[in-house]
Amino acid sequence: MANLLSGLKEIESGIKEFMIGNREELESFRLKYISRNGLIIKLFDELKSASREEKPMLGKHLNDLKKLAEGKFESFKLQIEESEIRKEVIDLTLPGRNFSAGSEHIILQTLNEFVKIFREIGFKVTNGPELEDEFYNFDALNTPEHHPSRDMQDTYYVMHNSKKYVLRTHTSPVQIRTMLQNKPPIRIICPGKAFRNETVTYKNYFMFHQVEGLWIDEDVSFADLKGVYTDFLRRFFETEELEVRFRPSFFPFTEPSAEIDMAFGAGPNKGQWLEISGAGQVHPAVIRNFGLDPEKYIGFAFGSGIERLAMLRYGIHDLRLFYDGDLRFLQQFA
Ligand code: PHE
Repeated sequence: MANLLSGLKEIESGIKEFMIGNREELESFRLKYISRNGLIIKLFDELKSASREEKPMLGKHLNDLKKLAEGKFESFKLQIEESEIRKEVIDLTLPGRNFSAGSEHIILQTLNEFVKIFREIGFKVTNGPELEDEFYNFDALNTPEHHPSRDMQDTYYVMHNSKKYVLRTHTSPVQIRTMLQNKPPIRIICPGKAFRNETVTYKNYFMFHQVEGLWIDEDVSFADLKGVYTDFLRRFFETEELEVRFRPSFFPFTEPSAEIDMAFGAGPNKGQWLEISGAGQVHPAVIRNFGLDPEKYIGFAFGSGIERLAMLRYGIHDLRLFYDGDLRFLQQFA
């Protein structure tokens, strides 16, 4: 079997000398030595005709050869792959993949729509901080120390530099912040987030979006507020037929106060009313906190819930859907 042995030697040096620098060369190496039709398999065939004595020794040689070839193949394969990654081989001739850029969340869309309409009506947009001073969130808004809305259960308190702050429970503190820097006539809205430590239900969440509205002048009336707000609702819902009611209510910073409710048109909550906004005539004590004379100036304010408006507009019966992050829901509004 000198024949087989010299074949072995020849193939061994062939394997060692074979130059592999790219994928094509790697593939020819594989075809030549390792594939089903390669040289090593052929030698295994020849081995069958070797003598009993020689078979074990030749068999071992052949197995070593096989390992040598496979080892070389694997290590060069790895090298080539790594260098391709390094070079970031990008095939510019391939068609592009679908590109998904995401879209505006339905609540942001609703908020923007709200702002757009009030801008058209003649309101300016302002803003204020979410981490708020107790003074602006409560005191200046005529909300005394013992008022239930200050209770730990509703308000998130935050300690910062050993001072106590609140996550604003409504956008109303912006009324104060705005009035300390501006003079009437005032017509502003302030969109933003508010936070309350409430039980989460189909209509409540621990965070929600609110738009504050403030209108101060020498001769505005509740009728003006009602007119403006109804005009807004007609534009927002794109219909004249609105099931709206202004219901007497209470807020420490308005007197008289009202809550604006709307009826669900469809879905499991049909026939039920949903509060969409608090509203009222700014309390004389708050006007005084603005630095203005309540005998001269009169103000109207509202604070509207964006999630609630979106529920009514799109017929969504559970507010929690907005924040579940379920793309099947969100993509319907993309
Ligand atoms: N700040 C009140 C709330 O969040 C809403 C409101 C705003 C009521 C302005 C009257 C005037 O409940």
